[in-house]
Amino acid sequence: MLSIAVVNLKGGSTKTTSAAYFLHALAESGLKVLGVDADPENCSLVRWSDLASWSIPVVGLPVKDLHQRLESISDGFDVAVIDTPPMESGRGIVTSAVRAATHIVVPMSPTPMDFDRLRAVLDLVDDVTPLRSQPPAVAVLLTRVVTNSASAEAYSAAANELVPVLPARVARLERFAQAFGCAVENALNTAYGDALPQLLDVEARA
Ligand SMILES: Nc1ncnc2c1ncn2[C@@H]1O[C@H](COP(=O)(O)OP(=O)(O)O)[C@@H](O)[C@H]1O
Ligand SMILES: [Mg+2]
Repeated sequence: MLSIAVVNLKGGSTKTTSAAYFLHALAESGLKVLGVDADPENCSLVRWSDLASWSIPVVGLPVKDLHQRLESISDGFDVAVIDTPPMESGRGIVTSAVRAATHIVVPMSPTPMDFDRLRAVLDLVDDVTPLRSQPPAVAVLLTRVVTNSASAEAYSAAANELVPVLPARVARLERFAQAFGCAVENALNTAYGDALPQLLDVEARA
């Protein structure tokens, strides 16, 4: 089974929005998907799914043994997408999600501050890898990208020195900024839909 964890050091880094769009893009492509909300403080993915009455099931599971429980809770599903708390406040839970996931996506704005946080995320992933039977695939997804800005190119190149950066870029758009609590439609036709096959092509991190 495929499992995608969306991970970053801080809150406000577009994790939940990315998890919501990945979930819907996967569902629109015909897969049976489960959302796992592992953020104990905000529970935003569960809240969003409640507010918008998603047909996609979302379970709240903010636990440090997700890696032991994911297989049984996602039995019968093709893919699980795990939304995580900020690493700085929920390190145990994030560690567990990183142990559980086949694929790890780090959403990153093309800004000096977000880039500065990338290394901490990769360090956690690399610390966890010896605890896994196989290394995960890890990639950066650029989000809140201002179209035609030089920053996207610059930070994509810089991040690519450390980890694969998906070619798809999520633009800074009202569509995403205002999305929380609303139905998510045509997610496959967004950059999240473009990013999915690219993510599945990323090789396991050595
Ligand atoms: N592509 C985007 N363009 C503009 N705003 C965005 C985009 N993606 C997310 N946002 C906004 O950024 C804020 C943080 O996003 P959120 O997904 O809640 O992050 P996190 O889960 O990491 O805390 C929210 O207000 C959200 O609406
Ligand atoms: Mg969140």
